[in-house]
Amino acid sequence: MSVDSVLAAPAGLARLTGPLTGPLTPVHAADHTPGWWRSAVIYQVYPRSFRDLNGDGIGDLAGITAELPKLAELDIDAVWLSPFYRSPQRDAGYDVSDYCDVDPLFGTLADFDAMITEATRLGLRMIVDLVPNHCSDQHQAFQAALAAPAGSPARDMFIFRDGRGAFGEEPPNNWQSHFGGSAWTRITEPDGTPGQWYLHLFDTSQPDFNWDNDAVHREFERVLRFWLDRGVSGFRVDVAHALVKAAGLPEWGGRADGASSDGYPGHEAPMFGQPALHDIYRKWRRILAEYGPDRILCAEANVDPLPRLADWVRPDEMHQAFNFPFLHAGLDVGRMRHVINESLTSLDSVGAPSTWVLSNHDVVRHATRFGYDGHAPRDGDGIGPFDPQPNEALGRSRAAAATMFMLGLPGGAYLYQGEELGLPDGIDIPDNQRQDPTFGRTGGQRLGRDGCRVPLPWRSGELHAGFGTGANPWLPQPASFSALARDTQAASPSSHLSLYRRMLALRRELRLGAGSLSWLEDWCTDTCLAYLNGTTLVLMNVGHEPVELPAGTVLLRSSAASAQASEAESEWAELAEDRHRLGSGETVWLEIYLGDTER
Ligand code: GLC
Repeated sequence: MSVDSVLAAPAGLARLTGPLTGPLTPVHAADHTPGWWRSAVIYQVYPRSFRDLNGDGIGDLAGITAELPKLAELDIDAVWLSPFYRSPQRDAGYDVSDYCDVDPLFGTLADFDAMITEATRLGLRMIVDLVPNHCSDQHQAFQAALAAPAGSPARDMFIFRDGRGAFGEEPPNNWQSHFGGSAWTRITEPDGTPGQWYLHLFDTSQPDFNWDNDAVHREFERVLRFWLDRGVSGFRVDVAHALVKAAGLPEWGGRADGASSDGYPGHEAPMFGQPALHDIYRKWRRILAEYGPDRILCAEANVDPLPRLADWVRPDEMHQAFNFPFLHAGLDVGRMRHVINESLTSLDSVGAPSTWVLSNHDVVRHATRFGYDGHAPRDGDGIGPFDPQPNEALGRSRAAAATMFMLGLPGGAYLYQGEELGLPDGIDIPDNQRQDPTFGRTGGQRLGRDGCRVPLPWRSGELHAGFGTGANPWLPQPASFSALARDTQAASPSSHLSLYRRMLALRRELRLGAGSLSWLEDWCTDTCLAYLNGTTLVLMNVGHEPVELPAGTVLLRSSAASAQASEAESEWAELAEDRHRLGSGETVWLEIYLGDTER
């Protein structure tokens, strides 16, 4: 059996012939269905922390436009922009007071248009964040609801209920906020008396919309068109699983956070995964289709168990959904393999690509998470100076290995700004500078997500590591950031940044995003994973001992910093005598050796 016929083999065990041998377990076949997003690498920009051009200590749209050429050099396909809309910034912009305007902190609509123009010139697409579950309490619709009487159409835009108890002094049900405390806040009625309660699955300042009301649907359809008309390539939909709540708002034993399951039979969370959600996204998909085949929707949907994610990306619904189980699998190779198998097989069943992600603005950066042996911090809780500390160098090299493993997988991938620099979380953030509402709402018990949101370092040795030239950054940068600045890394062939560039370029060249996946069983152990994508073999070793590399392969890339300088010099570094082992915490991409004529 030739290598080619093995790669095309149907599910079941096959055996490679030729120099590279061993049983293969095919999971996913190459897929060349049209659709740019199916194999895209999308880079998340968190505007507050990207680049501060106006010197107020907070990043801005003009700063993003100025640095877009650096992102284009990374060989990404698109940028996803976290919220930049008008907002009191109680939840870093996820509390929107006007969905169709830019917050003055970040610039103007003209700055937005200039950014889109520059992105288009560079061949980059722009996706924006849509926050439809809730708005800011300063939104004109919520202010109108507060001023209107109970039972009015203005109140019906949100989820107002009378309280329980003789005087309505108890919240309407037991739901808890994702950020801690009750999910209900009582208002004072316009006549000064204690009044109704409104639901907020997040901060008090983020009232949930009532998606049983058609007026809410119409308003968001208007918002979609507003940004589509301005040239965006799509939307990342914030807490997409929460918009619709179960009728009657029944009590719930679990918390209202993403950790609760909506999937266990008989244990469905009443605020997540309600069937009526899917009609909303079908309607949105039809609206996007009016603008052509290239505009996309990506769900931030915390769905459990994983196969349910397929319901979100059926052919007439969203295009993509974040794969958080992959992020949460850590470096546990058993869990990783299970998640990859489940993702590919369940998404294949509806013809959708998987996505892969390791970091974002809500979790401890993976360069920090992987700096622990054993104890790992809880995502979203943050790390402080009095917690066990990560080993930064270990975390960074394992992060490189994990990213190289991820970027070899078929499907789309999301990167979070700064991970290409191997940035760690900010840990020494004084309590009085912490901004995440999680910190305040839990009385400091959960530090929150500020650590992964620290402003980026651009130039070593400059004020604020080149983030901006004016006021102090809105969160303090760790001392280590200066040495990790982009300019220093750009000049070094063995830097994290250089590795990202080479990985991303080769991923595109080899078309790995549209490729296949088969496990190479002989190299899958308790601490190693090996898969073939086409003729590229991806091998990761998270154990403490080195392992033998398979014979009959050619080294394409290694995640180990020491290997990178020499790789930079030769594109096809034949596996040298001294590189027949895969180090601890290393990933390699190998070409199966097919002979010179077939390469
Ligand atoms: C999403 C965002 C997070 C935000 C929350 C409320 O999970 O990623 O940053 O706090 O929604 O909008």
